[in-house]
Amino acid sequence: MAQFRLPPNSRIEKGKTWPAPAGAKQPRRFKIYRYDPDGEGNPRLDTYTVDLDDCGPMVLDAIIKIKNEVDSTLAFRRSCREGVCGSCAFNIGGTNTLACTSFIADYKGDIAIYPLPHLPVVKDLVPDLTQAYAQLASVEPWLKTRTPAPERERLQSPEDREKLDGLWECVLCFSCSTSCPSYWWNGDRYLGPAVLLQAYRWIADSRDEYTGERLDDLEDPFRLYRCHTIMNCTNTCPKNLNPAKAIAETKKLMVARQ
Ligand code: SF4
Ligand code: FES
Repeated sequence: MAQFRLPPNSRIEKGKTWPAPAGAKQPRRFKIYRYDPDGEGNPRLDTYTVDLDDCGPMVLDAIIKIKNEVDSTLAFRRSCREGVCGSCAFNIGGTNTLACTSFIADYKGDIAIYPLPHLPVVKDLVPDLTQAYAQLASVEPWLKTRTPAPERERLQSPEDREKLDGLWECVLCFSCSTSCPSYWWNGDRYLGPAVLLQAYRWIADSRDEYTGERLDDLEDPFRLYRCHTIMNCTNTCPKNLNPAKAIAETKKLMVARQ
């Protein structure tokens, strides 16, 4: 018989509720996914209370405060704390986004924080991005040229440079890829929106001289064409980019060259 529930060892259990700070003026609860694949026991949701009167305004501020003052075993990635490095992407309140650019005040009630969906978990909020980075490397995301290097830089007109706007700003947080059902089911063969946006960033670059080879590399039923324009990627991108459009532009170039 088909099984519609997670196997018993994957079900998320009620975790520990940590005591609220004494005399908290603005208590707010955070329910955070905890899992150690090397340990024993199921994933669980631990509940932490943070006094917002004594905390920065962003979700990442609360997570850092929890780690520093309540539970040092909580694992997560972060670096820049200003939406540039892409490392603090979690599923917050049901949406993949960056914790450092998400205001606590924008969420109602308890704030649930999970790792990015459908990736193996290294620990707690840290997903294993090995496959995603291998896919990124496969599109060779750097300028490739055949002609000899000029004496100074390779020039680009302001109009051609403008074509890269909406592409170069990607911080590779993988919020988009991990919100995409096609990537959930076929992530081993479909490149996903984050990597396809990176691929198009170089296809669209007037200085790059390997456009044909780049398109050849994507001409595949899975690598590119598993995009079914579901649009979760564009809806969730915390940098307001449009990976779905980059994918559509790539598909148009495929048709145009036939
Ligand atoms: S397109 Fe947006 S959501 Fe996707 S990796 Fe880049 S910044 Fe993150
Ligand atoms: S810490 Fe760098 S994007 Fe959030």
